This record gives sequence, structure tokens and C-alpha cells, in this order.
Amino acid sequence: MLKSFLEGLDGLTLECEARRGQACSLKDLESLRVEFLGRKGKLAGAMGALAQMGPEDKPAAGKKANEVKNALVALLESRQAELEALAAKDALSGFDPSLPGRRPACGSLHPVTLAMQEICEVLTGLGFEVVSGPEVENDWHNFEALNMPPDHPARDMQDTLYVSERMLLRTHTSPLQVRTMLSRKPPVAVIAPGKVYRRDSDLTHTPMFHQIEGLLVDKNVSMADLRGTLTAFVRQLFGAHTNVRFRPSFFPFTEPSAEVDISCMLCGGEGHVKGEPCRVCKKTGWVEILGCGMVDPNVFASVGYDPEAVSGFAFGLGVERVAMLKYGIGDLRMFFENDVRFLEQFS
Ligand code: PHE
Repeated sequence: MLKSFLEGLDGLTLECEARRGQACSLKDLESLRVEFLGRKGKLAGAMGALAQMGPEDKPAAGKKANEVKNALVALLESRQAELEALAAKDALSGFDPSLPGRRPACGSLHPVTLAMQEICEVLTGLGFEVVSGPEVENDWHNFEALNMPPDHPARDMQDTLYVSERMLLRTHTSPLQVRTMLSRKPPVAVIAPGKVYRRDSDLTHTPMFHQIEGLLVDKNVSMADLRGTLTAFVRQLFGAHTNVRFRPSFFPFTEPSAEVDISCMLCGGEGHVKGEPCRVCKKTGWVEILGCGMVDPNVFASVGYDPEAVSGFAFGLGVERVAMLKYGIGDLRMFFENDVRFLEQFS
């Protein structure tokens, strides 16, 4: 009993020695004093055992308790002296150690990057593999192989930025359909995220923006597969309650073609919010989110696939558009101004 009593007291001294340095103000130090030397403090607690000790042990125990008490007092007093000296020095230099520190600036991912990652995550989850290709393309991959011969009127749909006679900045990610099929045999299921460029600049268009292309080719792929895949994709991205509609449309490289609308996430497809016309869907209840269709046989022919043996679907969507809808961003220009007050909301 005596032995463990003495060891307990030594432990108190060691603990106090270790913790006194953490007291950074006289107030901290006072709490430490109460904790060790107060009426209900640690030393008083240890002394409780003294009452049950036999007369032969008491003198040694009492002596030790006194020594420890003196040691504790000395430790705390010396810390007090240190703190007072520091305070005097700070007062002289005007340094205030109690001021909060500066937070280091911390970066975050751009909302376009976030949307891109989210879209790719859903599509790779559905089994698509990510591929990439050059932003400076030739006319053949960007247009001709996609069923747009020179002078085809559909080339006017996309105002092209030319680098030279035959080279251009890709106007869409669809050349990746061509590059993929040229380098692989069917079946293929790929997505191609990346930057695209058009000679266009106003409130709702920027000369550079991001698209994600999708292509699936196999035996017996039908429009129903396209519809099922895109519906599953859109519901994973925007929520299970999202309604989807396919509207007939035209693209030279798909036949038939469609544009996909989803029910407006701001008004829930109602067309109005609290009696006000919805500004996101302009009262229609629907917002367009991607273009798609069944790969045109002429495209298969340009890459050497047999249109009799395989079929497939392709789709392309604008990433900025998805980000605006998902994160409720009203103005496209926000993405390119790099205002940190905007960007830091996505950290
Ligand atoms: N490339 C088309 C565009 O930029 C989108 C699209 C891709 C449409 C694939 C159909 C199939 O508008």
C-alpha cells in the first residue's frame, strides 16, 4: 500500500511537470493549480489513502506528501514567473499573442471540374470507359467522317475556329467517336470529356466550353437501349424523380436523332415558382440537356465498321450547362471570371 501511494504521488509531480508548459495564461495556470492543489484536487484525492494506513507507514507517507506538495507549488510558481516575464516582454514590443492567426488560403475544384467528375463517375459506373483526343483536329475527324462533307450546310451550325486550311479547333467531342472506332473493334462503350471551341461569344455562349461525348456500338443496339441508358444516367445525376423526354432533332452523324429534356429542377416541372414564371425553364417545365441519336451508317462506313453487322448510339452533353442546372448558377460568365468569392463556394 505504501509503495503504490508513493508511486502515485511521484506520478502527480511528473504530470504537473508535463502540463505546466501548456498553461499559456495566468487563468490557465490557476485552473491547473485548482486541479492539482485545490480542496478536491488530485493531491487531496491521493491523501485520502493516508487515513487507512498503519502507524508504521504513516510517517514516511506524510513526509512524501509534504515534499510533493512543495514540489507542485514550486512548479506552478515558476511557470507563473515565466508567464509574467513573457507578458512584460509582449507589452513592451506591442505583440499580442491572443490575436487569432491568419488562415492559409485553400484551393478548391472548379465547378466545371466537379460536374465533369460527377458525370464521368455515373457513366463509368454504367460501364463506359474514358478516352481522350486532340483539341486541334483536322477537318476529316471533326466533319467529314461524321457525315459532313465540305459545303454541307450543317457545318454552319457550328462556327469553326480554323488554325489552317485543314486544321481547326474541334467544335465538338464527336471526333472522338471517329478516333475510337478507327482504333478499336466493336463492341465499344466510351465517353470522351474535353474542351471544345466555337466562334461564339455572348451572354449564353463562350468561345471555349466543355462537352462529354458518349458512344456505344455492338450487335443489336437499339433506340430503346439509348433511351434506357440516358434515362438511368440523368436520374443518377439529377435525382430519381427526374422526368425525361426525347424530342426528335437533327444531327448529320446520327439517324434518327433526338434532344433530351429533363423536368426543370428549379420549379419541379411546374413552370412557375411561388406564382412567378420559372427563370430556368422559361415557364416550359423542361430544360434541354443533351443531343443524341443512333450512329448514322455513313459514319460506320467512314471508319470501316459494317453497318449491317453493328449498330450503336452516341450522345453529347454540355458540361457548363449541367453545372449551371445542378448548382443553380444563373450566369455562364461566372465560370470564366475566376472570382474567388464564387469559386470558394464549391470547396
Ligand atoms: N456533337 C453534337 C453537338 O455538339 C452533340 C451530339 C453528340 C449529338 C453525339 C448527337 C450525338 O451539338
